[in-house]
Amino acid sequence: MSLSADELRELDAALPHYPDRRAAAATAMRVVQRRRRWLSDEALADLGAYLGMSVEELDSLATFANMLFRRPVGRHIVLVCDSFACWSLGYAELREAIQTQLGVGLGETTPDGRFTLLPIVCLGACDRGPAMMVDADLHGPVAPPDVGAILEAYA
Ligand code: FES
Repeated sequence: MSLSADELRELDAALPHYPDRRAAAATAMRVVQRRRRWLSDEALADLGAYLGMSVEELDSLATFANMLFRRPVGRHIVLVCDSFACWSLGYAELREAIQTQLGVGLGETTPDGRFTLLPIVCLGACDRGPAMMVDADLHGPVAPPDVGAILEAYA
């Protein structure tokens, strides 16, 4: 596989905004991840050929960048805020409700491949804690009994 026409078009538009291709690598990986859901070795090889970087270089950058996935993830990413403000506003109960609803723990994907549940340090919505995010949608404050209805909206 190589980069798709859509991927190339988006990369060609984004990269001129960076001083060099290495600086653009995280953005480039997000472009590809948005279409392929996660960054396989093959995806990094495709990008590496485009950026003039090795798979190993991209892999080490991906390891330290936020929200770049080197393993398969579900169709929807559920983030539960695991940080100070939310701790005091009901984080533990919210996390428990999400885990019970999904039947998986933090870092795991539901068997049907629908959701991956991850903790995150502060969603930047401390006044709305306890907070969670599904894909790009912020939810908060979330009462544990409301978790089912929230998740139901993501097929
Ligand atoms: S601490 Fe939870 S959103 Fe900031």
